[in-house]
Amino acid sequence: MSKKKEFLNSGVTKLAFSFDALDPIRQLYYDILDNNLHPSVDIGIKAHEDYSDEFKSVSMRWYFAKSPDAIKIFRDVLDGCELALSRDIIGKSRNTMRVVQANIIETIGSYPTGRWHSDFHHTKLGTNESGTLLTPLFPFQPYFGGLETTSAHRDEYDAYDELATVHKYQEGQGILFDGTSTIHRTQSYKAYPGDKRILVCWQFGCTRDELQPVLTEVGENNGDPMFFHEHDYA
Ligand SMILES: [Fe+2]
Repeated sequence: MSKKKEFLNSGVTKLAFSFDALDPIRQLYYDILDNNLHPSVDIGIKAHEDYSDEFKSVSMRWYFAKSPDAIKIFRDVLDGCELALSRDIIGKSRNTMRVVQANIIETIGSYPTGRWHSDFHHTKLGTNESGTLLTPLFPFQPYFGGLETTSAHRDEYDAYDELATVHKYQEGQGILFDGTSTIHRTQSYKAYPGDKRILVCWQFGCTRDELQPVLTEVGENNGDPMFFHEHDYA
């Protein structure tokens, strides 16, 4: 089955790419930690929310692109490798399917049972109009949690667990899923206290004029700015 068909049928597909292609994002991560970012590369930091007592012990951070030069680093990596195919898989036109948000997700230590959710939820956003692509930034421990998706419909809360599938992350493989329709969560896992599980996340949105206000609202809800301008590499 083609990747596009698989994405449309099941809401999830996987893309192989060269692991070295992520080097500029690794450098970005080191520069964030060393406080060594170029002034035009603005990165915001967000901590996870405490959904429950269990989450009080979770150390999870999102380093998100906050300026055009910051989103450019993520876009250029994507457009420079096999992951660029994502923009043809989601939606109807790669020209308007753009990386509108991007971040590095860092989890230190273990992770409890997560909350099922979709990334780009809005009544005016449909299936195949947004997407999320996740991949390990660094070598990944086999005991780190994968991505759990459910084939249950959004309204069938009771069936989420029963219809769940675990997708293990692999170095050099991106997992692409529908940003609006695919309900998912991080698979819970036990790790050593100092273990760092680090993923790169690209969020795609269809930037047709009528959808930009909708995406802007989604961005206001998740706290990261949205970027609608054209990619440097079409
Ligand atoms: Fe998510």
